[in-house]
Amino acid sequence: MIEALRNKNEKLNKSIYIKSNKTMTPTENLIKEHQEINELLEIMSKIAAKIKSKDVFYPNDVEEIIDYLIIIIDKSHHGKEDEVFYPELISTGISKEAEPLSLINYEHTLAKRYLKEISSCVVNCKIGNDFSGELLADSLTNYVVVIQNHIKREEEFVFPIANEVLSTEKQNEILQRFEHIDQQNITHSFLDRFNKLVNKLKSKYPG
Ligand SMILES: [Fe+2]
Ligand SMILES: [Fe+2]
Repeated sequence: MIEALRNKNEKLNKSIYIKSNKTMTPTENLIKEHQEINELLEIMSKIAAKIKSKDVFYPNDVEEIIDYLIIIIDKSHHGKEDEVFYPELISTGISKEAEPLSLINYEHTLAKRYLKEISSCVVNCKIGNDFSGELLADSLTNYVVVIQNHIKREEEFVFPIANEVLSTEKQNEILQRFEHIDQQNITHSFLDRFNKLVNKLKSKYPG
């Protein structure tokens, strides 16, 4: 009963989040997504630790996480940042060749590389090919560390600059373009399945 109520509240919060996106600033919208991404990163860290300590490992869990990461981070979040947010920031005169933007771009590329590495480890494991648990644990850990540092860099160094230099009109325009990207990738049923997966994995990997 309590679990059902909690799930219902979580769904409600999610729908409030969707509705209130319109009143958020672009950086608030991205920070809200960082919080969701962090939930998956915590679970990935726990799975990496289990693999390292030769504990039970469920390749299906990692496979499911990857499927969601591809949509939530690669397509939606990085789509918003790479196609809309950063180009707009650069158009205000902020150099993409200098820090922090040069590092931000490098980290986006690095994250894609680690995600591919995780994915190919899981595929090999599932089809019975030679498979290195060590490599999978390292790729998971590398991915988590890169994204966590990246999120910190964006929130501490980049977003305050963006809030300063982007006009209100420009921020509204960015939000409309964000909404379009959301509509292409994140449906209500997708969010519903995502919540269920996070809840399932949180209880499977507690602590
Ligand atoms: Fe980013
Ligand atoms: Fe981000």
